[in-house]
Amino acid sequence: MRREAWGVDAVLEMVAAGAGREAFLDLLLLADESELQVRSYLNAGDLYVWRRGGDAVGIVLAIPDGDAVELKAVAVAPAWQGRGVGSAMLRAVLDDLRGRGVRRVTVGTGNSGVGQLAFYQKVGFRLASIERDFFSPARGYPADLEENGIPLRDMVWMDLEL
Ligand SMILES: CC(C)(COP(=O)(O)OP(=O)(O)OC[C@H]1O[C@@H](n2cnc3c(N)ncnc32)[C@H](O)[C@@H]1OP(=O)(O)O)[C@@H](O)C(=O)NCCC(=O)NCCS
Repeated sequence: MRREAWGVDAVLEMVAAGAGREAFLDLLLLADESELQVRSYLNAGDLYVWRRGGDAVGIVLAIPDGDAVELKAVAVAPAWQGRGVGSAMLRAVLDDLRGRGVRRVTVGTGNSGVGQLAFYQKVGFRLASIERDFFSPARGYPADLEENGIPLRDMVWMDLEL
């Protein structure tokens, strides 16, 4: 496990694949409502945990994908959302990936996630492509999901050159 201090009480930590990752399932499910999907990638890639005062307040799961790294999950505990934690955590993860030689990062978010689309673009991500009908029952998503009054259907892919 590698730890790096960020600011006074914020620490970015990496949790190895294995049983230790189960503790972060609730945070991972905030970013992806399909437990089928979450379990399929739970032990892949690097799981970054952002701790403040010892508590795990956010996670990023970064999985290599060809010459890029995909952010498969980004989430902040509900009590900490909207307070700048997500962007601080994401910038710290991007710094770490850049330091490890990663040059391109991708992330996908649902078409109805208006807030998430704002969040990623404010950190520098750009829209790249749309994968229609990604959120299907075959992938473990109920047919009638919606957010902000918009049906959740399509995946919006974004990327960022580091
Ligand atoms: C999306 C998420 C990670 C953002 O983390 P956060 O700590 O709440 O975000 P921050 O407070 O750091 O916000 C950073 C910026 O994004 C914007 N933003 C974040 N959520 C937003 C929302 N719902 N609507 C509009 N803007 C939003 C903020 O206004 C802020 O802008 P500013 O820098 O100009 O003030 C967090 O809300 C979350 O975990 N949500 C549930 C899980 C999820 O949806 N994950 C993404 C899956 S793709």
